[in-house]
Amino acid sequence: MGSTIDNQAMHQALQTAFEFRHATKVFDDTKKVADADFNRILEAARLSPSSFGMEPWNLLVVQSPEKRELFREFSWGANGAFNGSKGQLGTASHFVIFLAHTDVNMRHNSEYLQNHMKNVKQLPSEVIDFMNTAYQKFQEHDFGIEGRRQITDWSAKQAYIALGNMMTSAALLGIDSCPIEGFELDKATDVLKTHFGIDTERYVPCVMAAFGYRLEDPSRDKTRRTLEQMVTWF
Ligand SMILES: Cc1cc2nc3c(=O)[nH]c(=O)nc-3n(C[C@H](O)[C@H](O)[C@H](O)COP(=O)(O)O)c2cc1C
Repeated sequence: MGSTIDNQAMHQALQTAFEFRHATKVFDDTKKVADADFNRILEAARLSPSSFGMEPWNLLVVQSPEKRELFREFSWGANGAFNGSKGQLGTASHFVIFLAHTDVNMRHNSEYLQNHMKNVKQLPSEVIDFMNTAYQKFQEHDFGIEGRRQITDWSAKQAYIALGNMMTSAALLGIDSCPIEGFELDKATDVLKTHFGIDTERYVPCVMAAFGYRLEDPSRDKTRRTLEQMVTWF
């Protein structure tokens, strides 16, 4: 694995991808991300890590323009209100809504967790017993995450790892993206329940992401703190 040249090429590819990626406000709505490329981006989410390997997220890919419009009124971060455009909702090639699993799925000993350990992770029963005990201790004692909102937010934290991996994968493929939290959570939850048939006792939206090809380059260069400002070494 990895000669010096390969390693340098990899560094360059990563640097280029991270500089290329920016929060795209308006996409070229005439350009579509190819299925093979989008499936690669989805695969990045599928292979992302999660606490105890429980994968507490689901993705909705919303391609129907009518369905996207249901979010427009209360999604100020994606409706173009700030720049007089159709926004990410109206221009993205692919639009994803991340659902975080609530406490119904993610509290220790839930039906979802038992099924996941048995049928997805294919663990033997004695390992499942061990995992149940460790997971309960983690939730109740180590991290103290017990209420519905706390557990749902813990799921969301993990969904954001999948989101990050998807955006980096997209950038490596020359595909633009934008993460979106600019929406009213309660209204989005209602839309998902009423118009998408989502069981919102189990799944609630936590973040959205748009993918496609930029209409124009960003108006400003990236601004970031320096590594020295960000990192403390001991
Ligand atoms: C969790 C999260 C939520 C965000 N929500 C929005 C949003 O609703 N609308 C938007 O246009 N940008 C959104 N952004 C983009 C950020 O504003 C952007 O990443 C940041 O200003 C840095 O700029 P850059 O990504 O172009 O480097 C969000 C970013 C993150 C990580």
